[in-house]
Amino acid sequence: MCGIVAYIGPKDASPFLLEGLQRLEYRGYDSAGVAVVAPATKSAPAKLRVCKAKGRVADLAAALPARFKGTAGIGHTRWATHGVPSDANAHPHTDNEGRIAVVHNGIVENADELRAKLAADGAVFRSETDTEVLAHLIAAHRADGGGLEEAVRAALKLVVGTYGIAVLDAEQPDRIVVARNGSPIVLGIGEKEMFAASDVSALVRYTRQVVHLEDGELATVRADGFRTFTEDARTVTRKPSTVDWEVGSYDTGGYAHFLLKEIHEQPGAVERTLSGRLNERFATAHLGGLNLDARELREIRRVKILGCGSAYYAGEMGAQLIEELARIPAHSEPASEFRYRNPVIEADTLYVAVSQSGETYDTLAAVQEVKRKGGRVLGVVNTVGSAIARECDGGLYLHAGPEISVASTKAFTSTVVAFALLALHFGRIHDLSPADGRRIVAGLKALPDQIRKVLEQQQEIEALAAEYAHSRGMMFIGRVRGYPVAREGAQKLKEISYVHAEAYPASELKHGPLALISPELPTVALVPDDELLDKNLTALGEIKAREGRVLAVAHRPVEAKLADHCLVVPKSEPELDPLLLNIPLQLLAYHAAVALGRDVDKPRNLAKSVTVE
Ligand code: AGP
Repeated sequence: MCGIVAYIGPKDASPFLLEGLQRLEYRGYDSAGVAVVAPATKSAPAKLRVCKAKGRVADLAAALPARFKGTAGIGHTRWATHGVPSDANAHPHTDNEGRIAVVHNGIVENADELRAKLAADGAVFRSETDTEVLAHLIAAHRADGGGLEEAVRAALKLVVGTYGIAVLDAEQPDRIVVARNGSPIVLGIGEKEMFAASDVSALVRYTRQVVHLEDGELATVRADGFRTFTEDARTVTRKPSTVDWEVGSYDTGGYAHFLLKEIHEQPGAVERTLSGRLNERFATAHLGGLNLDARELREIRRVKILGCGSAYYAGEMGAQLIEELARIPAHSEPASEFRYRNPVIEADTLYVAVSQSGETYDTLAAVQEVKRKGGRVLGVVNTVGSAIARECDGGLYLHAGPEISVASTKAFTSTVVAFALLALHFGRIHDLSPADGRRIVAGLKALPDQIRKVLEQQQEIEALAAEYAHSRGMMFIGRVRGYPVAREGAQKLKEISYVHAEAYPASELKHGPLALISPELPTVALVPDDELLDKNLTALGEIKAREGRVLAVAHRPVEAKLADHCLVVPKSEPELDPLLLNIPLQLLAYHAAVALGRDVDKPRNLAKSVTVE
């Protein structure tokens, strides 16, 4: 979703702004813009310069005038919410005099009301955006006297909604004021220069020392430092933390796309998720960050997992693992729905929020809803220091490394591994036997090499993808453990290839979707070698009897009369099998998208981090 960058220091801001915006491209956007304060000359005062363009950051770079220079600047990639993608609607937005420039992530809910008042007072609006209201509002308060900080604070008091903003003032070019409420802002500390961004990925090439603002906080950023304060002007002290993600994680590293790179990074990601967390002596998992002792864990009667999209499907696999290994009822629910049904929050239920980015607004709001009602929430999160991680009472970081491609792959796999650790931990303080604990520990340790084996089948999967990509649509089926795999497989395919895909429990076929089966609608069937094998094979027979084409993903070859193609994946422990069965489906989606010429890493209409409702 939208991205923000800002720079202040001795150098020209534009190169950083453009590069920072490029680093944020993966989040999804439709236009981009930058503003700098051009320094005062003998004959003219400091002046704001703005350049905006619909389209890519490359279009903006091409449109940038040669002498677009200034030592303080802000930039933005916009994902349209209010008004179409256009040059006029792109950020930064300015006031009438072109003195205040604002970039904004989030939504000003009372924009119409504010716009009417400001227009009555003479503000001239040049865009359809809610953000432009902020520029005029800040300018109005700036006219009351006081500095930029006071004007921003006063303006934000009138705003209902969410924001991450960066504000530039031509009359105070020695500072940038940023503020956060529901949309992330991170400060980057350099050598006599300072940066700010909505995402650390824009900063890591320049600094590893960062400060995450909390909701309701603002900061004045100058070349030589920063000051953080609250909306009621109370100074707060924020200590910098060190980002451990590598700069190289933000390059494709020789792969055609980030998505392919991230699929291939999964063995390493799983190793990092497991690192230091397996306790072989007691056949359990060591999870230091849960902040729950054994007695508290034993009192948990239910687990409710909350996440959106693929995080929700990973949660479904997690729920299955927890029920199987710990025998605690567990259920995954879309966080986006949960908070709207006035959920009953129970003291003996453990809530688990799942998010790769840690910034998904719906998931964050669900966590806040649980906490408001006194519930306890753990986070299974990839991004250290993110809003969801900070809001939770404890949890596990995935350590999967940054995920750039919009479609989640390595974070998905690492999330399921994290749930396996959680389930093992719960299981061993309940009824999971040491022998079963050892079995799961061994299974987890074997996963990275088994994933490598699946990835070796890439060529074969590429050929199959080329064949299936042109289908009218695809059906994905699985039973029990296989059903969340089917759901995630369908999600991945539709998300990046735009091929319609539906997931069904194989047991439900004859209750409706069998009517769809025809040679034009192939089925991907998850056929693990477990207690449901015969039932799964029966479902394949039903499909073949209707001339449906079948691609089976199985632990051993499926006979030709039941499947047109079969991908054989290594067998893990039954509880862990879904992890491996999912990997070929990622490659299938990737190669189908490539075969159809899609923008694989930035699929249309989607954003990496959905920070609005
Ligand atoms: C995954 O491929 C999707 N892009 C999407 O469903 C994603 O998983 C969802 O928006 C949640 O994101 P999060 O993990 O960052 O919270």
